[in-house]
Amino acid sequence: MTRNILVTSALPYANGNIHLGHMVEYIQTDIWVRFQKMQGHTCHYVCADDTHGTPIMLRAQKEGITPEELIARVWNEHKADFDGFAIGFDNFYSTNSPETRDYAYDIYGKLKDAGLIAVRSIEQFYDPQKEMFLPDRFIKGECPKCHAQDQYGDSCEVCGAAYQPTELIKPYSAVSGATPVKKNSDHYFFKLGECNDFLQQWVHEPGRLQAEAANKLDEWLEGGLSDWDISRDAPYFGFEIPGAPGKYFYVWLDAPVGYMGSFKNLCDKAGLDFDAYWKPGSNAEVYHFIGKDILYFHALFWPAMLNYGGYRTPTGVFAHGFLTVDGQKMSKSRGTFITASSYLKHLNPAYLRYYFAAKLSSRIEDIDLSLDDFSARVNSDLVGKYVNIASRTANFISKKFAGQLQDVSGHPLIALVQKAAQEIADHYEAREFGRAIRDIMALTDLINQYVDENKPWELNKQEGMEARLHEVSSVCVNLFRLLTLYLKPVLPVLAAQVEAFLNIAPLTWADAAATLPAGHRINAYQHLITRIDPKQIEAMIEENKESLAAAVPGAAPAETRPAIAPIAETISIDDFAKIDLRVAKIVDAKAVEGADKLLQLTLDIGSEQRNVFAGIKSAYAPEQLVGRLTVMVANLAPRRMKFGLSEGMVLAASGDTPGLFILSPDSGAQPGMRIK
Ligand code: MSP
Ligand code: ZN
Repeated sequence: MTRNILVTSALPYANGNIHLGHMVEYIQTDIWVRFQKMQGHTCHYVCADDTHGTPIMLRAQKEGITPEELIARVWNEHKADFDGFAIGFDNFYSTNSPETRDYAYDIYGKLKDAGLIAVRSIEQFYDPQKEMFLPDRFIKGECPKCHAQDQYGDSCEVCGAAYQPTELIKPYSAVSGATPVKKNSDHYFFKLGECNDFLQQWVHEPGRLQAEAANKLDEWLEGGLSDWDISRDAPYFGFEIPGAPGKYFYVWLDAPVGYMGSFKNLCDKAGLDFDAYWKPGSNAEVYHFIGKDILYFHALFWPAMLNYGGYRTPTGVFAHGFLTVDGQKMSKSRGTFITASSYLKHLNPAYLRYYFAAKLSSRIEDIDLSLDDFSARVNSDLVGKYVNIASRTANFISKKFAGQLQDVSGHPLIALVQKAAQEIADHYEAREFGRAIRDIMALTDLINQYVDENKPWELNKQEGMEARLHEVSSVCVNLFRLLTLYLKPVLPVLAAQVEAFLNIAPLTWADAAATLPAGHRINAYQHLITRIDPKQIEAMIEENKESLAAAVPGAAPAETRPAIAPIAETISIDDFAKIDLRVAKIVDAKAVEGADKLLQLTLDIGSEQRNVFAGIKSAYAPEQLVGRLTVMVANLAPRRMKFGLSEGMVLAASGDTPGLFILSPDSGAQPGMRIK
């Protein structure tokens, strides 16, 4: 039975570069879509840039262009990145589109008619200089718990405390530096609390969510859902709310509607029936692939919006985990915050598609890109095992048998490899790509064993072994064709090259049952893929470090870089003299279990050793620090933290470009020297 399937990946924000973390999702989705298409199903894959919101508005202002100009430029960059990785969107669109606006208005209107929209006045921080309300991330100040400076309005990066922006000490606007004032305005709310019963049932319908996701949602639902604030005051880049001048939809209201907008745009171009996919009672399947960080939006807000807005809800929402590089969060200072475009400059996208596939499962686990393992695995599996089969056998066909194959249907090894088609298909369908790859590689090992046992290069040298050589080579070419078919969802570009070399039509899953007929003529084998040279990886890491130092536009995460913090109040020389600064040698550094940001340092200041917890884990690996000199505040009152007593503070610079930089004295300084 042919299925009608609509698939989406989350819409990337239009103010940052695509990086390898994003690529986990687009590669995962693309593999699944390509598999469905190979099965002969009707499958549409749509995406778009997520273009609205304060960060995009401010970033455009900073660059001196309109938001429309900014999002047009970023769209081109994103499109090039996705094309580079062979992400086969049927449509890559923008949320800043008439289609998305129409559906957003339509859904909002229905929610309003259903009595699910409330208006309430709320008090928020307002930047009097910039004349705008400030989102939490655009307010900075002193942490109310540990008194670290320049912390964001929602949480402290040093001690990890979460709080309200109003609790910050000496708050300032990260946009202008001005002191924000509290101001009231009317906000529009979606009464999510009234959707509780519907959602409770929805999240538990079979196939809807992964078990881990359903558990998480149960926790949220048990706590009761509060109303969701869906409006923002002007100035804002987005859709103005109908009947509410000066009020705009919060970006997350129209972002998922962008899935419909992009699909509608495709329908109009390709003559497809939008309603057949989105109206209640539709028997088409709709799936959203997302990261675990945006589950809340996709499994609560979005189904509620759709259900009460007159549309069907998604068939399934599939969340994946986050990417780490060499076991750690991607880091700009280590060069592991790798942009898609810099990867493409140095390495073949097939490598990453293969590596991610080998690591992906249907669960919400984080996945690690271990750079050594990455090259070892790609070199061994793709080059050493898979491509090796063709490169050791195909040339005999071209050179000795005029490119023509012998009929080898029914050969036991071919039959065995053909029989695996169903199980491999089941793994792809269930998003167990790692298992699919494991099965395919097990078959690849068997085939290489066959090549090793039959040694076509020796048959080639022996008198009277032509027929045998023809048979063995024909068997191998057919086996290579089957492996290519199984790998095609993962390696579409390579598969297309193989199809050209084998002189065959694009492979579909059903083709696994067949073999190439007698006399089928193949083309000469041409080298398909090269090994990874570790130098390529080094160069890529180096480049990502540099692009940080140069602070290229787009290197920052989804926020505008804050302005330089204002200079603090004047102090006297006596005030300064109270601070006892010492040269300290870092004799030990280690990660702190349970703390994302902290490193535990042992500092030698000549007379004694101090234990200090420093919020510098994002910028330094412990081994980078041991042995080096730095500067510490030696007479800071000791502070009891969750992890132990912190006896002082190391000095580090941070500012309006990403990164954190600890201070060090010039060479020759000795531990314990006082800094005056
Ligand atoms: N714009 C929103 C999504 C709106 S969908 C209606 C957004 N954008 S994003 O650019 O921040 O992320 C896009 C997708 O990439 C999300 O699903 C997110 O989870 C995923 N990832 C972003 N960084 C990631 C990693 N480091 N690792 C894995 N996935 C990551 O969220
Ligand atoms: Zn703090």
